[in-house]
Amino acid sequence: MMKELLFATNNAHKLKEVREICGKEINILGLMDIGFKAEIPEDHDTLEGNARQKAWFIHEKTGRDCFADDTGLFIDALEGRPGVYSARYAGEDCSFDDNVRKVLEEMKAFSNRSAHFRCIVCLILDGKEFLFEGEVKGIILKDGQGKGGFGYDPIFLPIGQTLTFSQMPAYLKNGISHRGKAIGKMVAFLKSEQ
Ligand code: IMP
Repeated sequence: MMKELLFATNNAHKLKEVREICGKEINILGLMDIGFKAEIPEDHDTLEGNARQKAWFIHEKTGRDCFADDTGLFIDALEGRPGVYSARYAGEDCSFDDNVRKVLEEMKAFSNRSAHFRCIVCLILDGKEFLFEGEVKGIILKDGQGKGGFGYDPIFLPIGQTLTFSQMPAYLKNGISHRGKAIGKMVAFLKSEQ
């Protein structure tokens, strides 16, 4: 039987990516698919803390098997910022473009452009918790390149690639990205449990 899992997100970009990564064997529902509209708390200072908080909150509200992810962009020259605060780096209600602008401004002074994305996925299955991790290293460009993806994708050039996450086709991003790796581990785990 096809496994059905609820993804604790309201981010349509993430949902699309995760559906592509999981393929046809797992039916991924987003919160919009079940009409869940309440805000999800996310007030920890680690990715693990936030992923666990979001997943358990949705599990407790819906009783369903579910998972949540939390991601940060960690820039070496900025001592790991924006890190766990990546979503609201330029302030409450800021846009992806506002965040990108703030990072590019702060990076003007630095020649070391190294950074990495890190993603933690927390799965709640039959009331038990499982964590999966994925990371990708790259550099921060001086200007945004490309229109695809979301968040910091236009300024992130993964190591060994010639295209930013925004410029590359989705299958290529998903094959090397932080989220692709973490969700890939979750899918392998789910298959091994069947
Ligand atoms: P979240 O807390 O997991 O939703 O992620 C925090 C922020 O990190 C998002 O609002 C995006 O700005 C950024 N982010 C997360 N995943 C990605 C990605 O795959 N590419 C670019 N930016 C991302």
